[in-house]
Amino acid sequence: MHETAPLLQATNVTKKYHGEAVVKNISFETNTGQVTAILGPSGSGKSTFLRALALLEPIDGGEIRFEGQLVGQIQKRGRRVNASERQLASHRAAIGMVFQSFNLFPHMSVEQNITLALKVHRRGTTSENRHTADSILQKVGLSGFSTKFPSELSGGQQQRVAIARALALGPKIMLFDEPTSALDPELVREVLKVMESLAEQGMTMIVVTHEVGFAKNVASRAILFDRGEIVEDLPPEQFFSPGNSERTRTFLEHVL
Ligand SMILES: Nc1ncnc2c1ncn2[C@@H]1O[C@H](COP(=O)(O)OP(=O)(O)O)[C@@H](O)[C@H]1O
Ligand SMILES: [Mg+2]
Repeated sequence: MHETAPLLQATNVTKKYHGEAVVKNISFETNTGQVTAILGPSGSGKSTFLRALALLEPIDGGEIRFEGQLVGQIQKRGRRVNASERQLASHRAAIGMVFQSFNLFPHMSVEQNITLALKVHRRGTTSENRHTADSILQKVGLSGFSTKFPSELSGGQQQRVAIARALALGPKIMLFDEPTSALDPELVREVLKVMESLAEQGMTMIVVTHEVGFAKNVASRAILFDRGEIVEDLPPEQFFSPGNSERTRTFLEHVL
């Protein structure tokens, strides 16, 4: 680890679908403890960028570094090639990701959902992992839920289990892609509260969200995406103030 390197650094990252760039030459870095909110219109590349940072899809240009180390790609005979699944798995362990549609395994209990990654990574004994699951469930306000199945839970509870699952391997950064967008309005708050408490505990987070309250009150940085590019990157108090750019104002008028 390089002591001075950013926790996560994307440099000139480009991602194309069918030959067309949907993430265009984006450079972005974040440091430990920073909470970044990403806003922007639908189709502007927010999810694609997040998936690239989570190493879920190979990129078409640029590079991603974690604690200074190149991730997602390796240097082979002087050339950059995509990393193998095995190399990706070890890099991904440091990055937790939470999706809009919780994606829990329906046939597994809450505890099995949370401990699966620990098993796959051969971490801990069954009883150690049970304790890990219990302590993470406490963090997300779901103590005592370990034997329940996803179908027995509300959407808000399922999303909190998904957050617990993403925390299982002890990630250094958590990425959230519209974590409350699929929830009934009355369930949004319980999920945002868990995210806020994670932020208070110093977790580094990147959150794609339309929740202006969260972006204003919890994030330390607000970014606007438009057509595959970062067009605004400001402290929230400036991002949401009348002095922001025309583009941001237009977007905010649209979502508010
Ligand atoms: N797997 C994919 N295959 C082809 N096109 C995709 C894929 N994922 C996203 N896109 C396209 O990339 C663009 C950006 O999508 P996305 O990153 O989901 O935007 P956002 O999250 O901001 O709504 C959109 O035009 C979308 O249709
Ligand atoms: Mg999206």
